[in-house]
Amino acid sequence: MFCQFPGGLRGLFAGMDLAIDLGTANTRICAPGRGVIVEESSIVERTGPSTGATGQAPAGRERAETRVMPVRGGVVVDVEGAADLLRAMIGRCRSFGLRRPRGIVCAPTDADRNERGTLAEAVGRAGVSIIEIVPEPLAAALGSGLDIASPYAQMLVDIGSGVTDIAVMRARRIVFASAMRTACSDLQAAVTRAVAAHHGAVLRAGEAARLVAEAGALPKQGQASAHGATGIRPDGAEVTLCVSDRELREAIDPILDTIVERISHVLRSLPETTAVEVIEDGIWLTGGGACIDGMAERIAGGAMLDGRTVRDPLHAVVHGAALMLARRHRG
Ligand SMILES: Nc1ncnc2c1ncn2[C@@H]1O[C@H](COP(=O)(O)OP(=O)(O)OP(=O)(O)O)[C@@H](O)[C@H]1O
Ligand SMILES: [Mg+2]
Repeated sequence: MFCQFPGGLRGLFAGMDLAIDLGTANTRICAPGRGVIVEESSIVERTGPSTGATGQAPAGRERAETRVMPVRGGVVVDVEGAADLLRAMIGRCRSFGLRRPRGIVCAPTDADRNERGTLAEAVGRAGVSIIEIVPEPLAAALGSGLDIASPYAQMLVDIGSGVTDIAVMRARRIVFASAMRTACSDLQAAVTRAVAAHHGAVLRAGEAARLVAEAGALPKQGQASAHGATGIRPDGAEVTLCVSDRELREAIDPILDTIVERISHVLRSLPETTAVEVIEDGIWLTGGGACIDGMAERIAGGAMLDGRTVRDPLHAVVHGAALMLARRHRG
């Protein structure tokens, strides 16, 4: 019989090991042995009873689709939604195997017992046995190619959509961490509010993220164009808005300042020799926030440190978790 399983019959019985990064905006799953990586927005569609403004569903529209985001601030807030999302994604990276898949799953460093329990429940309901829950910045450091076994301390800041996770690592361990549930989604919400306040406009979906991404590259007194609805046009058509560099900075800066202040706080909390090592090495930046123009300079510079963005900031966490799986197999 021709066997299509990687590793032949052994592969079939070995089942599948997965690295899982269940994020606020994006979920990434890697099946290292099979060379597969699946990446999707962390959104699930739900169909439920529809109710109109009167509380009565319009005829023929008794059921409506809603979009649910099961992860908020980096942690699972809707177990069933997260399980549905993972189940569908695992189905996409799965070839056939007899054993239930096993997984290394990533979580923010500040996830408490309840939050880790909720994550474990969602992953379990999606049919995966958890091998270990690992801290996201440690996985991100490994996945970025940093020498996490180094005896010298290194600081990594992962700025995702819902959580900014700051960790100082040495000899494969996190020696100090601080996470805040403030990240890219807050930058986008602030820009959305600023555009509403200055232009009386509701931005088209995706425009706030684009404005945030471009803000750092705008020259002083520059402008970025954006599409949104103002209500001025009777047909409801969108207009093109000119959003100034100043409007964007006023929205974004206070949030970046809180991240800078947290990094400075971490630095002040370290023993002196560790702080000196971090100052010498600078900060490594990962996550979607690291892709924003000028972010490394803004964040690290604000804390009087050097900052570098890793090569593949969006996939650092899942790559690191996949490497952890591979090490288990070897070791
Ligand atoms: N190329 C890019 N330029 C600018 N911003 C980006 C880019 N790619 C992603 N982002 C922003 O980064 C955020 C997503 O980052 P990421 O995928 O690291 O978050 P996440 O892992 O889902 O969230 P978290 O780790 O906080 O739970 C989004 O807000 C998105 O708008
Ligand atoms: Mg993330």
